[in-house]
Amino acid sequence: MKNVRGRFRAPLDPEALTYSTSLPVDRQLYREDIAGSVAHVKMLARQSIIPATDARRIIAALRGIEKEIATGRLSLEARGRGRNRMAADDIHMAVEQRLREKLGSRAGVVHTARSRNDQIALDERLYLRRKVNETMGGLRLLQRALLAVARRYEDVIMPGYTHLQRAQPILVAHHLLAYVEMLQRDIERFRGMLPRVSRSPLGAAALAGTSFPIDRHYVAALLGLDGIVENSIDAVSDRDAVIEFVAACAIVMMHLSRCGEELVIWSSQEWRFVSIGDAFTTGSSIMPQKKNPDIAELVRGKTGRVYGDLMTLLTVMKGLPLAYNRDMQEDKEFLFDAADTVVSSLRVTAKMMRTVKFRRDRFEAELEGDPLLATEIADYLVRKGMPFRTAHGITGDIVRSCGDAGRSLSTLTLKEFRNYATAFDRDVLALLSPRASLAAKRSRGSTSPAEVRSALTRWESRLRRS
Ligand code: ARG
Repeated sequence: MKNVRGRFRAPLDPEALTYSTSLPVDRQLYREDIAGSVAHVKMLARQSIIPATDARRIIAALRGIEKEIATGRLSLEARGRGRNRMAADDIHMAVEQRLREKLGSRAGVVHTARSRNDQIALDERLYLRRKVNETMGGLRLLQRALLAVARRYEDVIMPGYTHLQRAQPILVAHHLLAYVEMLQRDIERFRGMLPRVSRSPLGAAALAGTSFPIDRHYVAALLGLDGIVENSIDAVSDRDAVIEFVAACAIVMMHLSRCGEELVIWSSQEWRFVSIGDAFTTGSSIMPQKKNPDIAELVRGKTGRVYGDLMTLLTVMKGLPLAYNRDMQEDKEFLFDAADTVVSSLRVTAKMMRTVKFRRDRFEAELEGDPLLATEIADYLVRKGMPFRTAHGITGDIVRSCGDAGRSLSTLTLKEFRNYATAFDRDVLALLSPRASLAAKRSRGSTSPAEVRSALTRWESRLRRS
């Protein structure tokens, strides 16, 4: 059997073959690879570069191969093994090898005016387009879940924090809507990359283009892409779209990780702020009382993977001379990992979020007279004509002496207030409740119940449309 062809006198060393094969990873791209080949062959026939009869037979065979792989009738694993140099070491070779089994040597016309270098660049872009849309779908799923929970707890208050110290009372819904906004930026980031992702590198061939009269735009149009990557060297050298996608995934994970962290601390006994549904918590093998927020923790933890994926990709690409280098094969594992992780994290977070129960009365009494209402006192003095800095100082004195005496602000009498400033009147006493603090807010986008209600309505109609 003549397994050694062309310029080589020896087959690839078996260990070198195992080391270099990418089939176990890039087999995921079989649909994209076949779609790219079908479009390429259609174009070749249309341009009279190959006979129409070859094109028809090849396209039918490719569709058959796609079915064989989808149904598991064709095992790709076996293709990557063997001692011969022609062993399929990537998805492109595996598909072409099967094509040759079906059609004989005429199958070889498929690779006219094409190289695996532009082929893989195309496959990745088709994959990215699919994953960008899937990720946007996941983001919307979580937005909807957050919005449903926000609506359910529309009028429930909680302390808002800065530096993880109680800062000012806020509405739970307001806090959840902050995540909805973040995720919207994520959606826009993914949508924004589509015009850069949706370009066809095919026809760049190895790097210099081809002497055949191909029509690159026709291939792009057949694949529903927006256009071509113009420069043939850039087309095969560039992995920006991959990196941009994974960078956006890293930002999504950062957002999810903050959400996961909040669920972890909110559900602790120290906070007793929420409970997460049993379906998203686990017990301990030794401590019977435990209910652990494992899923929220894992979302936080998997963020590290995706950051790692991004760092790996940037490092693989750093310093590579133009054009294609085999190093670039290393990108797929990390691209796939980031895409799978972000989509599954979004889906599981959305499901978990819907099971989160806020304790409605948790803070109702506790926040009466709490120092987190101090801003209200300072603002009050300002409305009475005092410069804010002075008001801030006086209020600080009040909070400190209440703290020293172990008293709540709401136990202060008007007389005591007047010891600090004569500007105080009876109406100051009504300010020292968290509800009054919320109702006093006037600014657009604030936590005032009216603002939050209209934000909820705005988001609900926006998400209904998307
Ligand atoms: N499988 C390779 C990759 O994923 C593409 C093939 C190009 N290989 C080559 N030796 N020119 O990057």
